[in-house]
Amino acid sequence: MSKTVILYGTESGNAELVAEDIGEELNGGSAVVISDLSDFDVAELSPEDFYIIICSTHGDGELPTSARPFHGALSAASPDLSGVKYAMFGLGDSSYETYSQGSEHIDRVLTELGAERVGEYGRHDAADGSLPNDAAVTWSHSLPLFV
Ligand SMILES: Cc1cc2nc3c(=O)[nH]c(=O)nc-3n(C[C@H](O)[C@H](O)[C@H](O)COP(=O)(O)O)c2cc1C
Repeated sequence: MSKTVILYGTESGNAELVAEDIGEELNGGSAVVISDLSDFDVAELSPEDFYIIICSTHGDGELPTSARPFHGALSAASPDLSGVKYAMFGLGDSSYETYSQGSEHIDRVLTELGAERVGEYGRHDAADGSLPNDAAVTWSHSLPLFV
């Protein structure tokens, strides 16, 4: 892998803070780039890099605003993502019936296009009152990146 790319999709900033904390945790282990999904060009998805995607859920199980352009571009362009590897961490609140589904929209389109999710599907549940950062950093230790 030439670098780890941490991409976040957010409405109110939590996923961005999580991305920054995971980025600090990885610091020194490999080259890390952090980007809002809305600033990332899907044409750059490459088997050479490893992607960590942090995405919240808003509306009624919908994508947060900043993840929509990425999802839309993938759906429109349908690139062949064979060989692309990613890990997924979803933010949500289990008091909604649509718990964590925003991240699942991204997960689904990536898988349909041939990318491979590796490691455990990480999730944070805001219903328990905890901040997502600790759960996400702990989760990041389980990624193949660290073994
Ligand atoms: C208006 C609103 C709608 C939400 N809808 C959902 C939902 O449908 N499903 C879910 O799991 N969480 C839902 N959440 C919880 C958010 O996903 C959670 O608070 C998350 O930490 C927000 O992350 P963000 O700041 O990165 O957007 C909602 C939160 C708000 C404020």
